Amino acid sequence: MYQNPRGTRDFNPEEMQKRKIVEESIRSIFQKYGYKEVQTPIFENLELFTAKSGETIINELYSFVDKGGREIALRPELTAPVIRFYVEKLQMKPKPLKLFYFGNCFRYDRPQKGRYREFKQAGCELIGTVNPEALAELIAMAYKILENSGLTNIHLNIGNLNVLSAIFKKLNLPKDKQSYLIPLIDKSMFEDLLEALSDFGISPKDSSTFLDILQTTDLNKIQEFVKTDKDAQEEILKLKEILAFLDNSFKIKNYTIKMSIVRGLDYYKGLVFEIEAPKLGAEKQLCGGGEYELIPLFGGKETPTSGFAIGFDRTILALETEKYKFPAQQIDAFIIPVSDDMITESLRIAQELRKIDASIDIDLMRRGISKSLKYANSINAKKAIIIGPNELEKSTVTIKNMETGEQTTVKITDLKNNFKS
Ligand code: HAM
Repeated sequence: MYQNPRGTRDFNPEEMQKRKIVEESIRSIFQKYGYKEVQTPIFENLELFTAKSGETIINELYSFVDKGGREIALRPELTAPVIRFYVEKLQMKPKPLKLFYFGNCFRYDRPQKGRYREFKQAGCELIGTVNPEALAELIAMAYKILENSGLTNIHLNIGNLNVLSAIFKKLNLPKDKQSYLIPLIDKSMFEDLLEALSDFGISPKDSSTFLDILQTTDLNKIQEFVKTDKDAQEEILKLKEILAFLDNSFKIKNYTIKMSIVRGLDYYKGLVFEIEAPKLGAEKQLCGGGEYELIPLFGGKETPTSGFAIGFDRTILALETEKYKFPAQQIDAFIIPVSDDMITESLRIAQELRKIDASIDIDLMRRGISKSLKYANSINAKKAIIIGPNELEKSTVTIKNMETGEQTTVKITDLKNNFKS
């Protein structure tokens, strides 16, 4: 017996039904905000992902050399591919360019609940502006997408990498030491962080202030701490404008300032944000995004960019954790030919009803009525249409309502009226 590779999953029809519902709900919100869908290849030249992050990222990728000797990687995310596409073919489009996508991504991660080697993202890129209203709309859209999918327990965290870097500057630590600390900050491992700071010769007083600023949710306190840093001050003023739009125009108040957001990818700068489902435990991050810079690196004309991606699989897990009731997949009718000589007419009737967009299944196994009715029940058929010789002689069929059990005789010529939506 064969098994699927580690970290991958198969989805049965019930799971696919949930995924389709969530996908449609996400798509409808992107479209409401004026975003247009794009698609890029599942594999790219490896260079696309090492250009910014360096060779170390290869450890986290599925990469291989193809038969033509090219170094290829399965995409770990879609921002770099979409920006490659933009630089190659879309630069002349009017701005802002609002692009969204769905796509499977591949990361050589250690699999666990909510963390897979193949997973699906729904994401977007906003190209051409990072005005405060643009960033506020981006964050609000991410929030509304998750809310609209049916989730009730989500939380938005907002940070800023330029401000974080100003906070770091106060410690006078070289880059390599900062790089050591960043994963600890990312994982909120504050005790280990304190220990590392002490090892790096930072005084207990400075360490404790650093930690305090990383953990505070009070933006004014952070502003005061970095008041000598001009760039950080500008970022904080802009962040305040973004928050005002979120509060006043989008009515989103359920957020926390969190300067310890570092994001895992190397292209971010400025505003960053994450949305989590607190009940999901370790893999609770549903969405991540912010401002970033990739266009000049890929040879395009400098243009401001931002975006986010939502972990599709985790969104479904979060809905399941909240016991969200997904509607079951139904079929309008299941046709049962009572005997073999009824099959031709039954197939014809099925085709007629499908023409008016009814979903129709038909017994293909020549079973008796009772077994067919049982099957009709198992596939959630709303009605069973029983086609027998006595009825057919009178140009009628029997319709059984599968929910109530009620049976009616209907003229074949009137059948379509029973299925018009
Ligand atoms: P990311 O934070 O790496 O950002 O991924 C976005 C989301 O994908 C995460 O919040 C998480 O829900 C989901 N995710 C990541 N890894 C896995 C995994 N192994 N299994 C299941 N779900 C996972 C990005 O990918 C950026 N490209 C987002 C972005 C778009 N930034 C700007 N534009």
